[in-house]
Amino acid sequence: MKIIASNFKTNHTRKSTKQFIDEVNNHLLDNKIDNEVLIFPTATSLNEFNTVKNLSVGVQNAYNVQNGSFTGEIGTDQLDEFGVKTILIGHSERRHKLGESQKDIALKYNYYKALGYKIVYCIGEPLEVKELGLTETLGYIWEQFDGIDLDYDNLILAYEPVWAIGTGVVAKVEDIATIHKKIKKKIDKPLLYGGSVKPSNLEEILSIENVDGTLIGTSSWIVEDFKEMINITNKAGE
Ligand code: PGA
Repeated sequence: MKIIASNFKTNHTRKSTKQFIDEVNNHLLDNKIDNEVLIFPTATSLNEFNTVKNLSVGVQNAYNVQNGSFTGEIGTDQLDEFGVKTILIGHSERRHKLGESQKDIALKYNYYKALGYKIVYCIGEPLEVKELGLTETLGYIWEQFDGIDLDYDNLILAYEPVWAIGTGVVAKVEDIATIHKKIKKKIDKPLLYGGSVKPSNLEEILSIENVDGTLIGTSSWIVEDFKEMINITNKAGE
């Protein structure tokens, strides 16, 4: 069964997040949909959500600490308050816009792994690397696995080419198929695709071999669109 994930990034408020999650939860219940659905709201929108088992609310980021003096960060004390057990690690915006190094990312990964969190781990190459060809692209992606234990049970991977994120440029079917096949050959974990996924291209993307689901930003922020994409994901898994 295919997986669908929504990354809110810096969007929605506490109030609209609660409405969104309640609505998605009711949609899953009413339609008896049991695909795995993951939602990553902002940390300030965490709440006491009452969700079905196949809907998890995770965080887009947290520091590798329980608590302490790390201005601007949150740790597991803050996550435990809301029962959060799912985290996104290595997203390209954190790597490239916020300067997280592979070393920082591996530390975070190992910390949350030791606590048994479900980790959605993102990898993907920027445009200048893609333009150098497949060998360079794969070399770049393998480096993003430095320090990452790929045998971890509670791991989901997400291939998200940086040039396709938030740009409206979707990777070609052949590009997705090639990279997913290479990653899957090495690592036997669920592998999502992310980058300008939307209702109109989701079915085609889910039909590509080795695509186990999607991680969606921009087009998932309107609840009607996200529900439509949940339905498409549910059908694709039949
Ligand atoms: P996008 O973002 O759907 O807006 O391209 C995907 C992501 O960053 O996870």
